[in-house]
Amino acid sequence: MDHLLPRRTALKLLATAVGAAAATKSAGAAPASDAWSRTHDRVFLGGDFWANPMEDWRIADGGAECRSLGGNRSIHSLTHQLTHPAKGFSMSVQLSQLEVRGKDNGGGFRLGVRSELNEYRSNCFVQQGLNAGVADGNLVLGPKTAQLAAGADPKLIALVLTGVGRGDEVVLTLEARTGERGASLGKLSHTVPAETLLGNVALVSGYAAAGGPGAAKKAAKAANAAGGSRHRFTAWQLSGDAFTVSPARRFGPLLWSMYSLSDSRTAEGFVMKMSALTGPMGRADSQVVELHVQRDGSWRSLGESKLDPDAWVATFRIPRWDEKKDTAYKLVYREKHRDGSVTPSEWTGTILANPAGRPLRLAALTCQNDYGFPYEPVARNVAKLKPDLVFFSGDQIYESHGGFGIIREPAEPAILNYLRKFYQFGWAFRDVMRHAPTLCIPDDHDVFQGNIWGEGGAKMAITAEDPGASSKGGYIEPARMVNAVHRTNVAHHPDPYDPTPSKQEISVYYGDMVYGGVGFAILADRQWKSGPDRVQTGGPRRDHVVDPTFDCTKLDVPGLVLLGERQEEFLKQWAQDWRGHTLKAVLSQTVFAAVATHHGSYDGYLKADLDSGSWPQTARNRAVDILRPAMALHINGDQHLATLVQYGVAQQRDSMWSFCTPAIAAGYPRWWRPDELKLPHGNRPRHGLAETGEYVDAFGNKVYVYAVGNPAVGRALNRYERAHEKGSGFGFVLFDTVAKTYTVESYRFLVDAADGKASNQFPGWPVTIRQAENRGRNLLQ
Ligand SMILES: [Fe+2]
Repeated sequence: MDHLLPRRTALKLLATAVGAAAATKSAGAAPASDAWSRTHDRVFLGGDFWANPMEDWRIADGGAECRSLGGNRSIHSLTHQLTHPAKGFSMSVQLSQLEVRGKDNGGGFRLGVRSELNEYRSNCFVQQGLNAGVADGNLVLGPKTAQLAAGADPKLIALVLTGVGRGDEVVLTLEARTGERGASLGKLSHTVPAETLLGNVALVSGYAAAGGPGAAKKAAKAANAAGGSRHRFTAWQLSGDAFTVSPARRFGPLLWSMYSLSDSRTAEGFVMKMSALTGPMGRADSQVVELHVQRDGSWRSLGESKLDPDAWVATFRIPRWDEKKDTAYKLVYREKHRDGSVTPSEWTGTILANPAGRPLRLAALTCQNDYGFPYEPVARNVAKLKPDLVFFSGDQIYESHGGFGIIREPAEPAILNYLRKFYQFGWAFRDVMRHAPTLCIPDDHDVFQGNIWGEGGAKMAITAEDPGASSKGGYIEPARMVNAVHRTNVAHHPDPYDPTPSKQEISVYYGDMVYGGVGFAILADRQWKSGPDRVQTGGPRRDHVVDPTFDCTKLDVPGLVLLGERQEEFLKQWAQDWRGHTLKAVLSQTVFAAVATHHGSYDGYLKADLDSGSWPQTARNRAVDILRPAMALHINGDQHLATLVQYGVAQQRDSMWSFCTPAIAAGYPRWWRPDELKLPHGNRPRHGLAETGEYVDAFGNKVYVYAVGNPAVGRALNRYERAHEKGSGFGFVLFDTVAKTYTVESYRFLVDAADGKASNQFPGWPVTIRQAENRGRNLLQ
């Protein structure tokens, strides 16, 4: 019985594919079909698809066109995965060759596209599988090829692929027909073990990467120089019981949302701000998103907001928010089609009540390297712990995310290149962010730099010497791109303390949020920081000190900046301002101490790395002094090494504590191994753990190291096991505004955070810190 349905479906599909104009009249479930013929010209291919890479594709005149000759450009179906191949399936598509330079690398279907997880999002980034299409005048089906009939027009080919189960195998049949009249141009059959077809199905422009195996990783401009072919697709239809169909996996046009809720302590009361993100839409598409909230059981519109045409973010600001109860919200984007019809896209979630009468629960996350994408164990654990607030402290992307290289300029393609990397972040964590306030600050990789020393927004003086832009002051990217990055991350944050932009009109976002009886200072600890080119480290890299005998106190030259005057002025005011809250925390990108001895590899000893907030020393000490009366806990990330430390300025342990959280998926590894280097230490904590105690760091700053989550060397082939080995995970902090304590938890990657096992956390955690300990009234020993 199983075999009958697919055959019937296949026949129907063949009939459909014969001519683009042929109407489907057959009874029964219609095959799923793309909406491209009805879609306005634009970048975003629609919520049913993931395009690799997004910036190389356009919907043009009703079809999806690849703009790169680079090859291995693909469109994955998000709603259809082959889970039971032997139950039979059919796919058809209209294929048109747009351009060939040198070799026609072909195009058509790809099946069995799966990662080691065979999870649909991770599968989207795999660039291999079984090809079924047309290349260079030949029909191609896996290893088999057959010449197309003479006179075949590569600009107009209908491809039909069927799979029919035969025991544990599937018989694949691929037929090419002329796009216009439906005459057969050739047919091939190939039998494969059913399990080889498991995973995603995709359309591919250029089966082989032009210009060698590395070319698929190159951005369009570079790839085009190498030659190849590019293709256009229309009318992609999929059907059959072999597919599991999951409409809930659609990603867009509304991609996700982020919101914040803060007590303004003005006549505006609590202010709720929300960002709705869509994919990059077209000029003829709707440019607005509408927000609805549920009041007394029915939906009420709070109005529309216009999408920013760079960042594709629509932002809402709602004063006098009723913070006393949970409120359901619904965002609606009405997608207009070429035929005048409209399809609403909705995204729903919950705006939590302001936490009252119980501790506030903060999840703190940093650094997601996409070898671990989609980081499901972390996303699941965070959701299980039911946070009241989620904080991402930076490196929501790395430049390498999703492959296909980086586009630095001009701003427009650079922004598209950035956005699809940022979309991986939303894709992984959108179910966490829809139901809890989110704070999300950009760091260096988010603006395509290995390190960022912002120099107040200055433009970087680019040299060939450091194309990675890691050790020169300023921003390498166009200011317009940096501002789009800022908007995607922070547009929904509470209003900044002082919105005056920095140099090059680069936007600023430092300011505070008051929520659940806790005051949060949100800082940009790299936006004003001085560059390492202002000092001489003596090493091959300006930001690294390699000589173990080098005296880093020499690097504390007068005039160097850490937070900058504007943020220092804000913090002075904030430290004294206790309106509406009784506990405080500082949220920034990284730790104000140098708590790593080895960088990049297990034996990668470095005397010092100027990238932490330990340098410049005078500015660091001034910041810590300003913050002492705030008795705030500093929560940060970026290091890929979890640490819990207490800063000292005049003497050990006279200042605030810092929790540098584990990376979501740690890439570049760091270790803190002072014991084997015989670095002197005093007053090791009572728990007696190695590598802890009072130290003077490489820059001469005092730091009491209470706990550290050193990684192992990552070797596992499974991404989640490797992330676990590399010391990945996330932080969690309970703010008890009655007991005046912070309970700090540091979870590993591959655990069930809800099962209460001590081994879920890195050694030394959890730790409860009393408020006054942040000004040196120490109790922990
Ligand atoms: Fe990072």
